[in-house]
Amino acid sequence: MTKRLEGKIAVITGAASGIGLASTERFIAEGAKVVAGDVQDAKGAALQTRFDGQLVYQNCDVTQEEAIKELLARASTEYGGLDILFNNAGAVGAIAPLEELDIAGFDATLALLLRSVICGMRHAVPFMLARGGGAIINTASVAAFSAGWAPFSYSVAKGAVLHATKLAAAELGRHAIRVNAVCPGLIATSIFGTAMGASREQADQMAAMVAMRAGSAQPLKGNAPEDIANAVLYLASDEARFVSGAHILVDGAMLTGPRHSWDPSDPGVMGRLFDLTAEQIAQMGRRP
Ligand SMILES: NC(=O)c1ccc[n+]([C@@H]2O[C@H](COP(=O)([O-])OP(=O)(O)OC[C@H]3O[C@@H](n4cnc5c(N)ncnc54)[C@H](O)[C@@H]3O)[C@@H](O)[C@H]2O)c1
Repeated sequence: MTKRLEGKIAVITGAASGIGLASTERFIAEGAKVVAGDVQDAKGAALQTRFDGQLVYQNCDVTQEEAIKELLARASTEYGGLDILFNNAGAVGAIAPLEELDIAGFDATLALLLRSVICGMRHAVPFMLARGGGAIINTASVAAFSAGWAPFSYSVAKGAVLHATKLAAAELGRHAIRVNAVCPGLIATSIFGTAMGASREQADQMAAMVAMRAGSAQPLKGNAPEDIANAVLYLASDEARFVSGAHILVDGAMLTGPRHSWDPSDPGVMGRLFDLTAEQIAQMGRRP
């Protein structure tokens, strides 16, 4: 059977960990050649050894435009072109609420999460034109849709990533370049540990703990990086040849409604209004 990305050449940012790593593994299993970018060089080198002949690692700080250009160019020099770009690298960034926000922290967060995506898309175009088209996937978030899922700066950046995805899809459609976004819910990765100021090593260990505890955060159990990688694979593949300007929400139904709409242990609006527990509400024969 033909593999889903056979003959394709992909660049993935943030490839050393979490969602980027799971996507890298999935892309390679489906026949792609991958240029993996990250700032975690030891993990990148290990990836290159593990996937010798199918992957090259290159240090790429996505806040640096030149580094992104060099990463994209590597796909050409190493494998002969560029078909797929997964703009995924990220971290939580500035965690202050608006009224306490340090604007320099805001700028840095947007440079990491938004400017990087714009640079990636911008500089991928000439390479994809040379191949007659391509597919770009940007990592947004549930935080792109409403308050309450991530800090202010992160949420602003992810909302803008989603909008930029649509704008780019409109502009680049005539060149047969598709642009889509994936919007993860709570996925068990190191991002939570790094957001709390843990070292990368500690954060990696905390990812396993998040995996165990995060089951109650969303209606569906699961939340593995592979769940996002599967959606990214679809958007990258020719199966999605008529899909552009779209996003796939992979959140275990988290955004379907407020917590009390799916969690019977939450007393909901009635409980809060009348100071009742979820059990009392249930005894009244009503859901919160
Ligand atoms: N885990 C979640 O719940 C979740 C939810 C929604 C969106 N996301 C998004 O998913 C993407 C991947 O995050 P993750 O959860 O896999 O976290 P992660 O920490 O496991 O992986 C992020 C990777 O990005 C790399 N990175 C960070 N800054 C970089 C920079 N300046 N240049 C290059 N690489 C850099 C890190 O080294 C790391 O390998 C991010 O864009 C994040 O915002 C994650």
